[in-house]
Amino acid sequence: MSRYMVTSALPYANGPLHLGHLAGAYLPADIYTRYKRMNEHDILFCSGTDEHGVPITITAEKMGITPMQVVDKFHSIITEDFKRFGISFDNFSRTTQPEHKKFAQSVFLELLEKGHIVPRDMKQLYCPNCNRYLPDRYINGTCPKCGSDEARGDQCESCGTWTEPFELKNPQCGICGSTPETRDTRHWFLLLDHFQEWLEGWLGGQSDWKPNVLKYCNSWLGDGLRERAITRDISWGVPVPLEEAKGKVLYVWFEAVLGYISSTKEFFAKAGKDSNEWKKYWQDPDTKLVQFIGKDNIVFHCIIEPSLLHGLGNYTLPWNVPANEFLNIYGQKFSTSKGTGIGLGDYLKHFDPDPMRYALAVNAPENRDSDFSWLEYQSRNNELADVLGNFINRTLKFTASKFEGKVPDGELDMDLLNKAKKASEEMAFLIDSFKFKKAISIAMELAREGNRYFDSAKPWKSFKTDKEECARTVSSCLNLCASLAVVFEPFIPFSTEKIRRMLVLPELKWSDAGTVLLKPGHQFAETEILFKKLEDGFEKIMDKAEVVIQEEKMEETPEVDFETFMKIEFKVGKILSVDDIKKAKKLYKIEVDTGDRVRTVVAGMKNHYSKEELEGRLVAVVCNLKPAKLCGVMSHGMLMASDGESGVFLLEPGADAKPGDTIK
Ligand code: 2FM
Ligand code: ZN
Repeated sequence: MSRYMVTSALPYANGPLHLGHLAGAYLPADIYTRYKRMNEHDILFCSGTDEHGVPITITAEKMGITPMQVVDKFHSIITEDFKRFGISFDNFSRTTQPEHKKFAQSVFLELLEKGHIVPRDMKQLYCPNCNRYLPDRYINGTCPKCGSDEARGDQCESCGTWTEPFELKNPQCGICGSTPETRDTRHWFLLLDHFQEWLEGWLGGQSDWKPNVLKYCNSWLGDGLRERAITRDISWGVPVPLEEAKGKVLYVWFEAVLGYISSTKEFFAKAGKDSNEWKKYWQDPDTKLVQFIGKDNIVFHCIIEPSLLHGLGNYTLPWNVPANEFLNIYGQKFSTSKGTGIGLGDYLKHFDPDPMRYALAVNAPENRDSDFSWLEYQSRNNELADVLGNFINRTLKFTASKFEGKVPDGELDMDLLNKAKKASEEMAFLIDSFKFKKAISIAMELAREGNRYFDSAKPWKSFKTDKEECARTVSSCLNLCASLAVVFEPFIPFSTEKIRRMLVLPELKWSDAGTVLLKPGHQFAETEILFKKLEDGFEKIMDKAEVVIQEEKMEETPEVDFETFMKIEFKVGKILSVDDIKKAKKLYKIEVDTGDRVRTVVAGMKNHYSKEELEGRLVAVVCNLKPAKLCGVMSHGMLMASDGESGVFLLEPGADAKPGDTIK
């Protein structure tokens, strides 16, 4: 039996959570944890709300309440939404709890003592108009890496780079828009460069981690780790535990990653257990620490947190950090701050948690961003009803009407049960490798197999002609229902509980799948409805605000008249050369011959095509697009490509087309 410590990113308590959060870090962690519990592993699942940091003070200022009122309000909303979605934390804490503060302060002092943290006198941006220092999100400006105007003093919204306020070009006060001035101050820095070599070795040994996570870390290490300020001149946060640092607090990320440990400590304290019990989960090298996060948190969990833990010396390091990409909605980013997306609470006002858990598991952004739409949700919901719900329902109804709701006495079809066993084994391997999307598809395939079996065995016929055969079909199908209750449990726990209630079965273990769980004579309870099918337009039930995204999307694609369309100049082009653009991760600078001239086009093809694949290729080019500067390079046109679940593919004119040919 192994021991696991599972964590999910601590969400900021500055707004209700949306489906993007659920799909990114909470649902996968819950699936994993539930599965491990069914395997009787010693597992603890802890998280909590991240209640400090500048975003919270900004929300408080906007709402005209105190930061504490903000976090109280959202902590309770978030806790409730998670509970209703069945996210089965063992403990869901908060970083404003006193034990967390004490713990974060003690870590700061220990690392200071060990020489990994040092004070530095420095200059900081100060807004003369607002009379305050401007840390992190209080500054807007241009990203030094990608050139986007959406950068803040802590992170670039566009490319995700961790920025420092001083690095931003054209800095502006985020509150009043004035140009800030610089003032002298003192801050404490974490000497991340101390950990560079060790991290290279440690991360180098994690070859089974997701490639996207390792790629991100390697790019950080490749740039060379620099010291980072871990204190701030604001009043909301964990005070720096030094007399000379009065009025300063710890940087939110420094203390938030320690929140996982505080939450574990709180769990044992609440349970009245030995005060050292938490150490089994955080200081025993046999414990596997699995941290679920979204991709925007990779640096903090794979670079900062391991550095802190390694610096302290006696802590367990992450065993895996299976970060997810993002879930978008109708092609747009979910964003609490912009008020776009579907809130968990809004969804739950109208629908059950399981269909959404299923839809998000099937469409999980495991290796690339995925897109949510109500249409996709509807088809997943109806798949649950038509396949799983239908199989359970028809089997139980038939048993009720023909065998008084009892398992008939018949020999079992072991082939069918073996299929369930095999499915559970394949799923186990996939869940253990964090491939939940593939795992759930196997469970659904097993339910489909059940329907096929029922259809081809035709028990309604054999009941009249061959009772023994009929009993064999029915008892085999019933046992398959029980196996389905096992393999679906981590994904749709509310529904599998219902199935077990109908089948009158206790809680099951993973190894129960494919075994004989229902013996002849076993009596069932009344059947319950498992899933309701959704008709077209069902989502109208959501309030207007909740479907705003969809309507916006409709407005975004108005019809264009023929003349307008004809104004666009599409031409065949031939790619002559392809170059990288300094610091642009996704873009290429491409020279294209469009007959009339050779034009430079900046295109986001780097993740999809190698230079060799592009050079010499015929492409479809939009020529009269207004020139635009992207990452410092002027772009005079656009290459046309399809973009969908299957990937990004350039449109290809026929092989005999010539540069300059018009496309109509
Ligand atoms: O991105 C976020 O929502 C952060 N609050 C995540 C923190 S995770 C960890 F550090 F606790
Ligand atoms: Zn200002």
